[in-house]
Amino acid sequence: MTTNHKQLLAWVAEVEALCRPDQVEWCDGSQAEYDRLTQLMVDTDMATRLNEKKRPNSFLFRSDASDVARVEARTYIACENREDAGPTNNWIDPVELKKTMTELYTGCMKGRTMYVIPFSMGPIGSPISKIGIEITDSPYVVVNMHIMTRVGDKVIQALGDDGEFIPCLHSIGAPLADGEEDVPWPCAPLEQKYIAHFPEENLIWSYGSGYGGNALLGKKCLALRIASNMARQEGWMAEHMLILRLTDPAGKRFHIAAAFPSACGKTNLAMLQPTIPGWKVECIGDDIAWMKIGEDGRLYAINPEAGFFGVAPGTSMESNPMAMRSLEENCIFTNCALTDDGDVWWEGMDGPCEHAIDWKGNEWTPESKDKAAHPNARFTAPASQCPVICPDWEDPAGVPIDAFVFGGRRTQTVPLVAQAFDFDHGVYMGAMAASETTAAALDVGQRLRRDPFAMLPFCGYNMADYWSHWYAMGDKLGDKAPKIFYVNWFRTSRDGRWLWPGFGENSRVLKWMCERIEGKIGARQTPIGNLPADGDLDLEGLEIDAEDIAELLHVDCKAFKSDLEDAEAYLAKFGDRVPARLRAQLEAQKKRLG
Ligand code: GTP
Ligand code: SPV
Ligand code: MN
Repeated sequence: MTTNHKQLLAWVAEVEALCRPDQVEWCDGSQAEYDRLTQLMVDTDMATRLNEKKRPNSFLFRSDASDVARVEARTYIACENREDAGPTNNWIDPVELKKTMTELYTGCMKGRTMYVIPFSMGPIGSPISKIGIEITDSPYVVVNMHIMTRVGDKVIQALGDDGEFIPCLHSIGAPLADGEEDVPWPCAPLEQKYIAHFPEENLIWSYGSGYGGNALLGKKCLALRIASNMARQEGWMAEHMLILRLTDPAGKRFHIAAAFPSACGKTNLAMLQPTIPGWKVECIGDDIAWMKIGEDGRLYAINPEAGFFGVAPGTSMESNPMAMRSLEENCIFTNCALTDDGDVWWEGMDGPCEHAIDWKGNEWTPESKDKAAHPNARFTAPASQCPVICPDWEDPAGVPIDAFVFGGRRTQTVPLVAQAFDFDHGVYMGAMAASETTAAALDVGQRLRRDPFAMLPFCGYNMADYWSHWYAMGDKLGDKAPKIFYVNWFRTSRDGRWLWPGFGENSRVLKWMCERIEGKIGARQTPIGNLPADGDLDLEGLEIDAEDIAELLHVDCKAFKSDLEDAEAYLAKFGDRVPARLRAQLEAQKKRLG
């Protein structure tokens, strides 16, 4: 299909002249295109076709050992004034960054094909959706975009001759000299990697990495960093949140949007199998929510994505059966282990593995020192393959949100669940959220860090202005604002065991939330929020020590008090851009803790 979109044609021509690929291909999003590119990558040893009998039409990729996750230290918000990016974002003057990157882009696609991928975030034609055009020299990116977004001719059609699009330029940064042999996963060294956002012109430039959020630019770059900035300007929200529908035994529906940092349980919660009889969960999205206020004054959420780019290790029929069943065919696996019968394996999958080729391509047995799969190994799966995908998951109008849930990975202190006293307090909870870091980002180390609203790596502007935006949205929503909760599935005992069984059992906590939303039950008021009163959490059929439950629901005021100083110092970093209402919440928390 051809386009007459002058601005698009001009941009593609400009990029071609700069990057000098051997050829240019416009992607049509067809199955034939997917099949041709996957076969091309199998033929050039970039991919392994998995056993057709075990996992039809599925492929395994092994990345370069240096290119295994998002690179936060190389991710930039390049706006004119540094203050508009704020203290939590890396900033470079846009003129300077463009100069540096233009040099890198010059001739960077030599010896390669440049693919032009028209994609839609959100159902094509929906008023909430946005169109992007990704230019990339990575066929791996093309096939992943096929699954993660809506790609192809239908997008070009929707764009028309003068529709708006977000240009997303990507190169792996590995030109080939004449006759030079390619490697299985070409990429540039760390110091040449740039994941750059120009929010003032809604433009994305990414160079040097082929992995996940660094390269599939519809996801974190467009749907979160650029979209969050657009959302603030236009009065809506772009959040790092799963979306689920919970139906109670009486058939009443609740829609929950939950923000946990990377690798902290969104995909798992989004498709959980409730262990309490009569309750049902359906998945709408597992990573990103775009939310707008509807005509009835409530907040409506859509999932802008079309697939799951999920953490493989730990995913099993036991922990997340609906994810496992989404992976039966038509999937891409990255940095998983390859079994002797041509299937994939990872740590925490059902059943042991006696021998495999690990994610680096080496022989592996259970005795090996290293892990078989990289801790940030991922699957790419069509959302439509999830057995509990919600029938309304592509409804352009979205679903009305009843509750926001925040959380993170906290082995200590933070109780299993707490409800905010009101919206303002909930914003404080979200803003002060902290989590132990995970393998989802390459360069953050293993430590506890504040990750407000799970948006630390994804907020495309000053975080303090983002907090103000939350208050502004709360004011507009008034008494129709979702109720706010904070959860922690990750408490451990002194001997390192999980105190809470998690996964499907998390439905017990969701049930309590619904009962709170409906005003069916009271709560135990504590200085940090409202917690389940004795007996209110449905534990029927669950074998758990009374002592463990007591510890999970205990509020350690001393520990929370000692966190206040750090909270104050944290807010101070944002100077006078911190909303007064957030400071007031900190003062109120201080008073309550005494
Ligand atoms: P991103 O895709 O990086 O945004 O991650 P995510 O938030 O979707 O996290 P995901 O659901 O993939 O979970 C990451 C890891 O946490 C996996 O290894 C899970 O097995 C583990 N996990 C998820 N939920 C629970 C839980 O309730 N309890 C425990 N103990 N582990 C969990
Ligand atoms: C995350 O890190 O939050 C992810 C994976 O969802 S990536 O797409 O690589 O950002
Ligand atoms: Mn994520």
